[in-house]
Amino acid sequence: MRLIQEPSAMQQLARRWQRRGIRIAFVPTMGYLHEGHLSLIRVARRHAGPRGKVVVSIYVNPTQFGPHEDFTRYPRDLNRDLQLCRAEGVDAVFAPDDQAMYPGLSEGRYSTYVVEEKLSNLMEGASRPGHFRGVTTIVAKLFHLVLPDIAVFGAKDWQQVTIIRRMVADLNFPVRIVVAPTVREPDGLAMSSRNTYLTPEERQQATILFRAIQFARNRVRQRPTPAGQLRRAVARLVASQPSARLDYVAFFDSDTLQPVHTVQPGTHMALAVFIGKTRLIDNDRL
Ligand code: PAJ
Repeated sequence: MRLIQEPSAMQQLARRWQRRGIRIAFVPTMGYLHEGHLSLIRVARRHAGPRGKVVVSIYVNPTQFGPHEDFTRYPRDLNRDLQLCRAEGVDAVFAPDDQAMYPGLSEGRYSTYVVEEKLSNLMEGASRPGHFRGVTTIVAKLFHLVLPDIAVFGAKDWQQVTIIRRMVADLNFPVRIVVAPTVREPDGLAMSSRNTYLTPEERQQATILFRAIQFARNRVRQRPTPAGQLRRAVARLVASQPSARLDYVAFFDSDTLQPVHTVQPGTHMALAVFIGKTRLIDNDRL
């Protein structure tokens, strides 16, 4: 397995592979890998085939964090991540530093961004202004460096992958986007690098996100329910946990992300909840 830290070296390697007709499957991550990430790597290997190459990027992207968010304390452990990637048969890990990815960012000299202007303002985008501008920018940059034929994203971040699909279509990136299902702990909590922030009591209460989705699913399977009414019921359920504070809950069309008035089986639900100081998200089709 190769470890590549220079953007130009990554691009040169990708171009060599491309010229030889080798298929490249790509999994972008911010590292501190868990089973959710590893499941994406396995999907990437399946799509690459035995002769193809699987590339994983590990980079905590500063431009997708707000000024008061957890960028500096986001968990990092490159050596552990490299071992996990090696065990999965990854061909190359691309792990650049900030100076290489965003020359002059802290001095205000970096000035080019990719902005999706509609879907990025909903849900996560409303709660985290500028977040998706950072995501679309880094993913566009990574696509230019890794030159993937396919890229794998997790359903865990449903809005993110919907926006990436929009960007790929709007800007003609020659990349096929594949979505892999959310991997959960045995009690339903969606795996996330941020789960490491939780105290043992908070960890127990964090299952409220999954339970809220199951509650909503059961409710709409009995009868279609007005979104406002279901939102209030979910808010009451979340409030039953002393450390939990609901940021938002949304009911929308899976493809367009447009909110629905009446929630029924097949409607998509997403929510963000603070458990203590840790902000967690989850989503699923009801
Ligand atoms: P990160 O949070 O590290 O996630 C990397 C990829 O893993 C994303 O596609 C995410 O949806 C997926 N993922 C995370 N938890 C998962 C789970 N429990 N089950 C399945 N997939 C899961 O998302 C990012 O990084 C960044 O925004 C990135 C796209 C790398 C751009 O910086």
